[in-house]
Amino acid sequence: MPVTQFEEIRKEFDQWLKEAQEKELEYAEAMSLATASKSGMPSVRIVLLKALDDRGFVFYTNLTSRKGLELAENPNAALCFHWKSLNKQIRVEGSISAVADDEADEYFASRPRASRIGAWASKQSQRMKDRFEFDKRVAKYTAKFNFGDVPRPDFWSGFRLKPNRIEFWHEKKFRLHDRNIYFADGDAWRKEQTYP
Ligand SMILES: Cc1cc2nc3c(=O)[nH]c(=O)nc-3n(C[C@H](O)[C@H](O)[C@H](O)COP(=O)(O)O)c2cc1C
Repeated sequence: MPVTQFEEIRKEFDQWLKEAQEKELEYAEAMSLATASKSGMPSVRIVLLKALDDRGFVFYTNLTSRKGLELAENPNAALCFHWKSLNKQIRVEGSISAVADDEADEYFASRPRASRIGAWASKQSQRMKDRFEFDKRVAKYTAKFNFGDVPRPDFWSGFRLKPNRIEFWHEKKFRLHDRNIYFADGDAWRKEQTYP
């Protein structure tokens, strides 16, 4: 059975993402993120991939959102990229850990000021009375930070998914698609193919 290193898989991923960035209208880095509660009830939503290194796939969010709470009680997740312009899909499964504070600080500082204020104002996934309630919170934090720095809220940070399974799916004619799957096997990765 062929054995490979994660670096090679990452290069393949980067190549597909690059193709997608050239072809997709926007958000080539958008991925479905599936989480599950402790009881096993799944939920899924789109987030943006913000980094990929030899430790895994990074995204950022509000830690008290539904996904944040589910990841706190069940640190396993799956990602799915689908690029319509390429007829390609990549699926990733693995375990979740928190990104380091300095890494999250650095990314947060790179965001536009209005997005940083939005992070403070949004009680993501909590019920709100009406849009005005949110607008008032945006105004409140805009006034609070005035012209000063907007620091990262402690309820907003990143997660890193360390993959143990990555599948590259490429559409072929008559649904005779290619499916190449890599499984983590210690430090090495095993490659298999499956029927479409
Ligand atoms: C293209 C796109 C990108 C998004 N990126 C993010 C993101 O990076 N982080 C995030 O928290 N929510 C992002 N969202 C919003 C989420 O899909 C979701 O509505 C929100 O995070 C609340 O999810 P939850 O209640 O399951 O926690 C994005 C939505 C779209 C459509």
